Amino acid sequence: SRVIKLALIPGDGIGPEVVVEAEKVLDAVTADAGVTFDKTRFSLGAARYLETGDTLTDEDLAAIKGQDAIILGAVGGLPGDPRLKDANIERGLLLKLRFELDHYVNLRPSKLYPGAPGPLAEPGEIDFLVVREGTEGPYVGNGGSIRTGTPHEVANETSVNTAFGIERVVRYAFAQAERRRKRLTLVHKTNVLVHAGGMWKRIVDAVASEHPGVAVDYLHVDAATIFLVTNPGRFDVIVTDNLFGDILTDLAGAVTGGIGLAASGNINPDGAFPSMFEPVHGSAPDIAGQQKADPTAAILSVALLLDHLGLGAQAQRVTRAVEEDIANRGGTARTTAQVGDAIAARVQA
Ligand code: NAD
Ligand code: IPM
Ligand code: MN
Repeated sequence: SRVIKLALIPGDGIGPEVVVEAEKVLDAVTADAGVTFDKTRFSLGAARYLETGDTLTDEDLAAIKGQDAIILGAVGGLPGDPRLKDANIERGLLLKLRFELDHYVNLRPSKLYPGAPGPLAEPGEIDFLVVREGTEGPYVGNGGSIRTGTPHEVANETSVNTAFGIERVVRYAFAQAERRRKRLTLVHKTNVLVHAGGMWKRIVDAVASEHPGVAVDYLHVDAATIFLVTNPGRFDVIVTDNLFGDILTDLAGAVTGGIGLAASGNINPDGAFPSMFEPVHGSAPDIAGQQKADPTAAILSVALLLDHLGLGAQAQRVTRAVEEDIANRGGTARTTAQVGDAIAARVQA
């Protein structure tokens, strides 16, 4: 049978709690799929840093590069922990993985499932896909400060945008639009960020000419936040840069039933490196260790993983099980494990 090498990076806070449930569902849905997951657990995150001083060693990275795919929970320690002052787990671990593994597509679907507790009175149908650029923009770490800590400090954080980097993610977004409702919205801030925004716009227009069947429009990011709340049904595929995509997808999670339902995939479409699947949310220190976290985002990330691995039927079973679970949630509070058990039972049924 096919053996798939899977890295598990549970991480910090609620990360380990939700990854256990994701594993339960993965094991249940693939029990009869003719595949075997050869799992390797990596102890990475704030806890590992506090223990050993390591964020991501060369050995860790090499071992992760040798996997077929990765599931990550969340990373990030307790806010204000003085021992983490010099660590930057987010940059040194999460972003390092996205950059080193060339995850240039950060795929973040948003769908309002019937019964999900969205905040909108009349949400209508919501089903869109944010294709967030994953390796460039203000995230690259091209910055620095001088006269640090003085009243004359100057701090720069340069957004790096390359024609190569934009074109490849834009092409991916158009391909997704072709397979969906054939609408693509570029979100940027071309009225102010004229250099980067201008290049994004020109590249989208050029690629659009190869996709005459896709209706293309453009929104400034501030206006996009309005429509995500007032008319989210207008969106099919959104393509945007790394930072705008980060912000929009927390909002998208909120309007479709909460951040506990929002899944993501960090994809290397070329297949040169393993892709990484993780909930959009973070380590949620405010609820960690209490079995209060909703594991659904991590479980839906398993569906994205299965799709990526070519196990579409299993992916659909996970999505359907989640849909059924959401439809039957009612008001009763359940523990993280109870939600995982319920969804795992449904994928087997
Ligand atoms: P967060 O997503 O961890 O939490 C925001 C709010 O959402 C909190 O109130 C939290 O309790 C709630 N929440 C999050 N996930 C939930 C779930 N599954 N079920 C129910 N409620 C949930 O964002 P934050 O507070 O800004 O960040 C906390 C830490 O996580 C920081 O260190 C941050 O850098 C890190 N972070 C990591 C990732 C990642 O690993 N991918 C993503 C975002 C933030
Ligand atoms: C996310 C997170 C990360 C991001 C942080 C923790 C680096 O917010 O995955 O959305 O900004 O991409
Ligand atoms: Mn985020």
